[in-house]
This record gives sequence, C-alpha cells and structure tokens, in this order.
Amino acid sequence: MTNFDGRTILVTGASGGIGGATVRQLVAAGADVVASGRSEEALSTLATETGARVLPFDLTSEESVRAALQNLDVYGVVNCGGFGGEIATPMDTDIAVFDKVISINARGALLVTKYTSASMIRLGVGGSIVNVSSQASLVALDGHISYASSKAALDSITRVSALELGKYNIRVNSVNPTVVMTPMSAGYWGREEIKEPFLSAMPLGRWATEDEIAAPIVFLLSDGAAMITGVSLPIDGGFTCR
Ligand SMILES: NC(=O)c1ccc[n+]([C@@H]2O[C@H](COP(=O)([O-])OP(=O)(O)OC[C@H]3O[C@@H](n4cnc5c(N)ncnc54)[C@H](OP(=O)(O)O)[C@@H]3O)[C@@H](O)[C@H]2O)c1
Repeated sequence: MTNFDGRTILVTGASGGIGGATVRQLVAAGADVVASGRSEEALSTLATETGARVLPFDLTSEESVRAALQNLDVYGVVNCGGFGGEIATPMDTDIAVFDKVISINARGALLVTKYTSASMIRLGVGGSIVNVSSQASLVALDGHISYASSKAALDSITRVSALELGKYNIRVNSVNPTVVMTPMSAGYWGREEIKEPFLSAMPLGRWATEDEIAAPIVFLLSDGAAMITGVSLPIDGGFTCR
C-alpha cells in the first residue's frame, strides 16, 4: 500500500465527487491534504470527516490563486476543480460559456501549476502533479465542444509542464476519466437515449465510480509512478481504445 509519509498534497475540486474521493484516499495513505474549492462550507464538512486542511480559492482569479498558494509548501497537486459548461455544438455554442470553461479547467489548472511548481522547485525534493482531464480530450463526443477544448488544453499543459519540470524531478500527468455520476455529469449522461448507446460502445459497459478515478490519481502521485511523466491515462472502461 502506498504511504505518503506526511507529504503535503493540494487537491482542488475537493468538495466535488472525484476530488472528495481523492482526498479520502490520500488521507488514508498518510498524506497531509490541503483541500480546495470555492465553498468553505462544503470543504469544512470534508475537513471534519478526514482531517484535511481547508484552503478556498477561486480558480478563475489569478490574484485568488496567488494569494492562496504563494506561501504554501507542497509536494503534490491534484488539479481536479472543473466545470462542465454546456452541451453544445461548434455551430450553437455560447462563447461566454466557452470562455468560462476554459478559464476554470485549463487556465485555472495552469495558474495552480504556476504557483505550486514555484514552491516545489524551491523545496528541491521533486513532486508530482496530476491533472484531472477527461475522455473528451481523446475522442470527439457529441455536444462537448467547450469542455473537450478545455481538457485538450489541459492535456497540453500536462505535456509541456512535464517537459519543463522534469529537471526538478517534478512529474506531471493527466488522468482522462469516463463518466462518473456526479452532479456535473448526471443531467446529460443520465438521459436514457445518451446512456444506452454510449455504454454499449464501451468494453466494460458501465459508469466509473469516484473511487475508481481517485485510485489511479493516488498512484500517479506516488513513488510507484516515479518514471511516469507526461502521459494522459484513460480511465474509461476501454471506450477510447476503439
Ligand atoms: N464527473 C464526471 O463524469 C467527470 C468525467 C471526466 C472528468 N471529470 C473531471 O473531474 C473533475 C471533478 O469532477 P466532479 O464531477 O467530481 O465535479 P463536481 O462534483 O461538479 O465538483 C466540481 C469541483 O470543482 C470546484 N470548482 C468549480 N468551479 C470552481 C472555481 N471557479 N474555483 C474553484 N473551484 C471550483 C467545485 O467547488 P465549488 O463547488 O466550491 O465551486 C467542486 O469542488 C473535473 O475537472 C471534471 O471535469 C469529471
């Protein structure tokens, strides 16, 4: 079993489904977890349950991210905060929604990388960053123009950051999950006419659970993944292998 021996790991999106499961698994594996989101109230419930520390900030504001992170010493980061945006095509997209999705999912993760990698480099003991991307960056999905664009940008942030930070022994990877039935996904993927054809095209034929996404995130943060950097790891029941 992985043991983080008190290493400090920041998890954004900690008040959400995948982020919350990641916090619980990291605490169980001996990490000192800093849980982030916008709502301090939602985070405090998780903190009471797990003992994680709470650090609210807004991913859309560089000032908010900088103020929260510039003096935080971390070994690891999970960029899990995200926004689903809209179900729309390139022909009918609301460009304001596109801007917001990019601002949270790609720009926000880059800002967190910018300020946490500075502390990792200063501490000089290496580190690991895991970006929670999506299967939507790997294959074209109906109605996903904004979200897929943001996650493709995030995968590029992963690769370029892996290239730039490797010399400091800081690894950067993406995980690319299929659908987990959190509030972000239920409105669209819960519809029978969407769900049935999708699952019948997936080798494993079912939705993922929060814990099934959290476990590979924890692995990529751990020393067991010491030689893995720059990858986008599908956690998709085989959907993108077709
Ligand atoms: N659910 C899926 O099917 C699925 C599949 C593939 C990938 N993903 C990705 O996995 C990640 C987590 O998804 P989830 O379904 O667990 O999400 P979720 O339950 O909807 O939670 C979203 C999280 O992001 C935070 N967040 C949103 N906007 C923010 C902002 N401007 N600043 C700071 N935090 C913000 C929320 O905090 P507040 O509520 O406090 O704002 C919350 O903690 C996302 O990046 C998502 O794109 C999800």
